[in-house]
Amino acid sequence: MKSRANFLALVTFSMLALSCVRCKKMNTAELVEARKVVERPFSNPLAMPASINGVHAAFDAKAGIAQLGTDVSANTLGYGTASILGPTIRIRQGESFNLAFSNNLNEATNIHWHGLEVPAAQDGYPTDVTAPGSSFQYSFPVKNRPGTYWYHPHPDMATASQAWRGLAGFFLVTSQEEEALHLPSGEYDVPLVVQDKRLDGGLTYNPDTDDRSIGMFGESVVVNGTISPVFEVATRKYRFRLLNGSNARIYNFAFSSGTMFHLIGSDGGLLDAPVAVSSVMLAPGERADILFDFNDQPVGSELYLQSNAFAGTETQGQQAFYILKFKVTRQELDNSLLPIALMPVEKIPESHAIATRTFNIGHAMTHSSDMGDMVMHPLDGKTFDPNRRDEVVKAGTVEIWEFDNSSGTETHPMHLHAGQFQVLSRVGGRGTVEPWEHGWKDTVLAFPGEKVRIIIRFPENIGKYVFHCHNLEHEDGGMMLNYEIQ
Ligand code: C2O
Ligand code: CU
Ligand code: CU
Repeated sequence: MKSRANFLALVTFSMLALSCVRCKKMNTAELVEARKVVERPFSNPLAMPASINGVHAAFDAKAGIAQLGTDVSANTLGYGTASILGPTIRIRQGESFNLAFSNNLNEATNIHWHGLEVPAAQDGYPTDVTAPGSSFQYSFPVKNRPGTYWYHPHPDMATASQAWRGLAGFFLVTSQEEEALHLPSGEYDVPLVVQDKRLDGGLTYNPDTDDRSIGMFGESVVVNGTISPVFEVATRKYRFRLLNGSNARIYNFAFSSGTMFHLIGSDGGLLDAPVAVSSVMLAPGERADILFDFNDQPVGSELYLQSNAFAGTETQGQQAFYILKFKVTRQELDNSLLPIALMPVEKIPESHAIATRTFNIGHAMTHSSDMGDMVMHPLDGKTFDPNRRDEVVKAGTVEIWEFDNSSGTETHPMHLHAGQFQVLSRVGGRGTVEPWEHGWKDTVLAFPGEKVRIIIRFPENIGKYVFHCHNLEHEDGGMMLNYEIQ
């Protein structure tokens, strides 16, 4: 493993004026221009990952060639029979998950179960990797509430590269209680992982200094591995499980018809009640479970899932673009009702917190002159070191953690392993907790100028976990610390 100690305290530079000689001198306007999304005609049928039962699963990670659309193929990585992404794992709360995993890549990898409460040895700690040609047995009880979780590789300094090339999948938890709600199911329950890719170069991962600074962006938005996708729907309610599986891009999801829709779940599963919204902003790692009713759309009409422009950061949000085309092709009677209540979310009282920890996430990045063009992103002044113990907490206790980006210039989606938290407040910037940040969360976005406070009750699983920025270039650039649950 490469040591990080010598990356530190090198040339500090700012986003607005990249001043070091080895950097490409792009100003903010040029950075934004170079990261624009390019739309093509939406004509490729949306791919749907195969579903598997998680109680006895087996798959490998391997290289392949994926057809992303007509005439568009790329060298990719995938799990199991998929040449890109992996199967959607479906399992019930309380069951035990078992996966015989083998690594058929030519590099080390592992799997992290994003959002799931799993023992430390099962969590895909960055240095707990499976060597090429080797196997690992994952098994853990599924404790989480019904909801949309996901899995992806997490090897130290290679997460961004492996995720970019295609490794990720859904992990959907259900329960009897959820089934009793009669939410749209089967073909009407549609997981959508949204990612941007750079097709020039066929998904090879070769970030330059700017990419390592603000993150790897692609001009092509793919959904479930399909570029410019189209999805045929009926005039009824659908459940869409939106996952931002991109390395760095933030999406401000909305529908081109302007129709309101209902938010029913966030990162950690169902909300206590549906909330009507007109948009949902998701940063890398975040999920939103939504209900959309095509009942008002005549057969023959077309509309889009799109990303609206947004303010708050200089490097993202300037452009609105289409993501997925819906074609309403058939009339279907839908007399299902929107549930009034979903699943109780028990609020953790602030008064239960025994400690508050504040992390400065607004430190300027540093530029390494020795390790190629590595750009390091500090978290609270430090970069990741697997041999260090940064924070120690006690199982079962409640703490407030503050992610302070008030002096920062970049967006950082902060993610905690081990358990779910609740968002208490946001000061500065947007100044509010957004509707999609209610319920249980494992990732929360801090814009420049924002300080976000979360509250967490640490689970009983003791051991070493990480917390980090889910901009994957930032994560691989060291913006990750350890915390140990004792
Ligand atoms: Cu989805 Cu540690 O990340
Ligand atoms: Cu995670
Ligand atoms: Cu970040």
